[in-house]
Amino acid sequence: MKIKILKNYKEVINESYKVLSEHLTKKQDLVLGLATGETMIGLYGKMVDDHKKSGIDYSRIKTFNLDEYYGLQRNHAQSYYHYMNKHLFSKVNINEKNIVFPNTLSNVDASCERYNLALEENKIDVQILGIGSNGHIGFNEPKTSFKSKTRLVELDKTTRVDNSRFFNDLEEVPTHAITMGIENILNAKKIILIASGSDKSKAISKAIDGPVTELVPASILQRHPNVEVMIDIEAGKNLKGSMNYVK
Ligand code: GLP
Repeated sequence: MKIKILKNYKEVINESYKVLSEHLTKKQDLVLGLATGETMIGLYGKMVDDHKKSGIDYSRIKTFNLDEYYGLQRNHAQSYYHYMNKHLFSKVNINEKNIVFPNTLSNVDASCERYNLALEENKIDVQILGIGSNGHIGFNEPKTSFKSKTRLVELDKTTRVDNSRFFNDLEEVPTHAITMGIENILNAKKIILIASGSDKSKAISKAIDGPVTELVPASILQRHPNVEVMIDIEAGKNLKGSMNYVK
């Protein structure tokens, strides 16, 4: 794992985009794995700005999103599709046909199967990842098998409470979601894990310094050959020897 601890959120995003943009310019038909959540908003903002400024071409780029709430319509204000459309898809020249999203509304098993097949046919070049305060990646909650693939999952209480800030109340937060599995995530050629703020510091230290265990889904990233971790000082404050990482 290559770990960079940066001063603040803004620098985390700048540095993450620097790495991502090298890939975007090198390979025009890049396959990109995308994540949602508050952390990623800055990154999508940079992608949009740079698309406008330098004309980075998204017409041949293919995207796969990590996860989606079960049962939310695409136009629901809190669906991840709506989020992606708002922050990225509607603002760059991406071809709608190249946007692949988990379908959570009908024939869930068959659509998960199709998602897994599509992921086998289109190896992800760069997977953007956030982390939950309980160490989840995508919506793979603690105790998820490292062999898991795309499927319907039940969300942990912690995750629903964390994400309730986007809804009117906890009751409104879906209880289930469809998520790529850990095995799908590990198949990506490169992973950029991004985290900011002290709420993530425990999860980050367990993921990086702790044992590789299904109790901390993100800990499996220690076994991936090409992971860059971009975090700010707050998120990295519990890391052992964190001074060695500061840029
Ligand atoms: C959700 C998503 C994750 C994301 C996490 C952290 O639970 N399923 O993919 O990493 O939130 O989000 P935030 O950046 O809002 O803390």
